[in-house]
Amino acid sequence: MVAKIIDGKNFAKTLRVKITRKVSEIRNSQGEVPGLAVILIGEDPASEVYVRNKARQTSEVGMESFKHILDAQVSESNLLALIDEVNNNELIHGLLVQLPLPEHIDSERVINAIVPQKDVDGFHISNVGLLSTGQKAMIPCTPLGCKLMLLNHHGSLSGMNAVVVGRSNIVGKPMANLLLQENCTVTIAHSRTRDLPAVCREADILVAAVGRPNFIKGNWIKPGATVIDVGINRIDNPDPKISRPKLVGDVDFAEASQVAGAITPVPGGVGPMTIACLLANTVTSFCRTKGLAEPNWVEE
Ligand code: GUN
Repeated sequence: MVAKIIDGKNFAKTLRVKITRKVSEIRNSQGEVPGLAVILIGEDPASEVYVRNKARQTSEVGMESFKHILDAQVSESNLLALIDEVNNNELIHGLLVQLPLPEHIDSERVINAIVPQKDVDGFHISNVGLLSTGQKAMIPCTPLGCKLMLLNHHGSLSGMNAVVVGRSNIVGKPMANLLLQENCTVTIAHSRTRDLPAVCREADILVAAVGRPNFIKGNWIKPGATVIDVGINRIDNPDPKISRPKLVGDVDFAEASQVAGAITPVPGGVGPMTIACLLANTVTSFCRTKGLAEPNWVEE
């Protein structure tokens, strides 16, 4: 079997069209647009690229973009003061503090200082609790993007066996909660799981979020399964003529795509969906604040 490629790049484009339409509707009815603020600390080149992309896409869908770039040495109290200012700014409906933060700053304290309604990353402890109890939460962007692609591909996920490899707070745990809400039977596997290949082979839906290049092999995959590869790993380019690194996922794509029924590529799979979902969450936050009907990004 040769797997269908789930085209995240194209899917994200379609989602951005829906967001643009919704923002335009909001502008016409409310006379204002949702605003997204991003705080970046220090000069990590990969983070700078992310933040630039986020700002560009925010403007492209018609929303207001606010960018704060702080010195790597900024004190935690100054950062908390800026978060407080953003929390109280009525023009801003979503705030993302780019991670990782410098060592001298307590990430948990910073994340939990964001008002939960503006926490478009869904990392605040209140949003984590709301999601895990099935209440109205802000959903972390990467798992939300994976869920939207899965629902688009399958219609319903009810009764399917889902295995999530990876137990991070950003991807693994919220992903498992979302799949549970969709009535999957969910297993969270990780580096200490006994006989991981056998556990993976039970999966109708396999989500890989371990951060290890090409870790999941073709013979770990149940024939016909849907494979969602969250990994973005930079490895030395196998072509010695190309000096720049190659991006690969956590799944050995060449092998897996011969066995799976459907698979997300890297790049061009989950990655583009993450930023699109950040924009979607900002619109959702605006609608909740204003008491407007919430967009349903699955159906619209
Ligand atoms: N750094 C890399 N990915 C993310 C993300 O999704 N959110 C935040 N806040 N920081 C990140």
